Amino acid sequence: MNKYSLEGRVAIVTGAGRGIGEAIANQLLENGAKVVFCDLSEDAANTACSDSCTDEAGLPFYGNLAKEEVAGALIAKTVAHFGKIDILVNNAGGGIITPFLEHTPETLVETINRNLWTAIWCSWHALPHMKKAGFGRIINMGADSVRNGLFDHAGYNAAKGGVHGMTTGLAREFARDGITVNTVAPCAVQTQQLEDVRRVNPELVDKVLDIIPMGRAATEAEVASMVIYLASDEAGFVTGQVISVNGGTTML
Ligand SMILES: NC(=O)c1ccc[n+]([C@@H]2O[C@H](COP(=O)([O-])OP(=O)(O)OC[C@H]3O[C@@H](n4cnc5c(N)ncnc54)[C@H](O)[C@@H]3O)[C@@H](O)[C@H]2O)c1
Repeated sequence: MNKYSLEGRVAIVTGAGRGIGEAIANQLLENGAKVVFCDLSEDAANTACSDSCTDEAGLPFYGNLAKEEVAGALIAKTVAHFGKIDILVNNAGGGIITPFLEHTPETLVETINRNLWTAIWCSWHALPHMKKAGFGRIINMGADSVRNGLFDHAGYNAAKGGVHGMTTGLAREFARDGITVNTVAPCAVQTQQLEDVRRVNPELVDKVLDIIPMGRAATEAEVASMVIYLASDEAGFVTGQVISVNGGTTML
């Protein structure tokens, strides 16, 4: 049974090849939306899409969305295939979590590319379609570390802080066009990304989990369900928000 009104909606989820993005794509499908599974990896996009849905409900797309022309191609392919775009979930990203001076020029540029340019270019290409249709939902994946200045997150926060900032700006600019723009900001989530950080720096993961009042990481489904709510018709009066899904960390 559908929890929210998403029947007939067309959604793009970036970074849907694995992790939180795949969980979001699957929950959108369960609630009746058609979904474009987009990822950097061709294999991941194809596999996640074919594992979850029929050809009528899903479409795979791969490419580097930090490039303006690739983001443009994603939006154009979505509109050509499904006729419109109602929901854009800017989930692609991922941290290169390290003390600021241990970053290289390459890792800093990659951090901004992955987390910020992907969201900027996809939004920039999707918004004209949403504005014309008089309806849109943009949901960005931010990070609670922007708010609490989490250890070793300065480079990542520079990128995610940009995403949080774009949220309020776009929400105001398109508030009278039927378009809402929000950000979901998780703390630690039990994903491959968290396991990658644990492998390199287990003390950091312990420290991060220790400051969460619930004492654990979120599940991917717990983060995805907030995205699904924000994508729904029911969330029509919620815009310009950065919503933490953080096990109570705000109480610190
Ligand atoms: N895992 C966590 O603890 C956590 C916490 C806070 C925020 N987040 C954010 O949530 C989102 C999802 O996290 P995750 O743990 O599932 O990440 P992940 O690394 O498992 O998956 C991210 C996906 O994005 C894709 N991607 C990266 N750069 C891309 C690009 N330039 N173009 C197209 N696709 C690209 C990757 O291929 C990958 O499949 C990310 O934005 C991440 O920064 C994660």
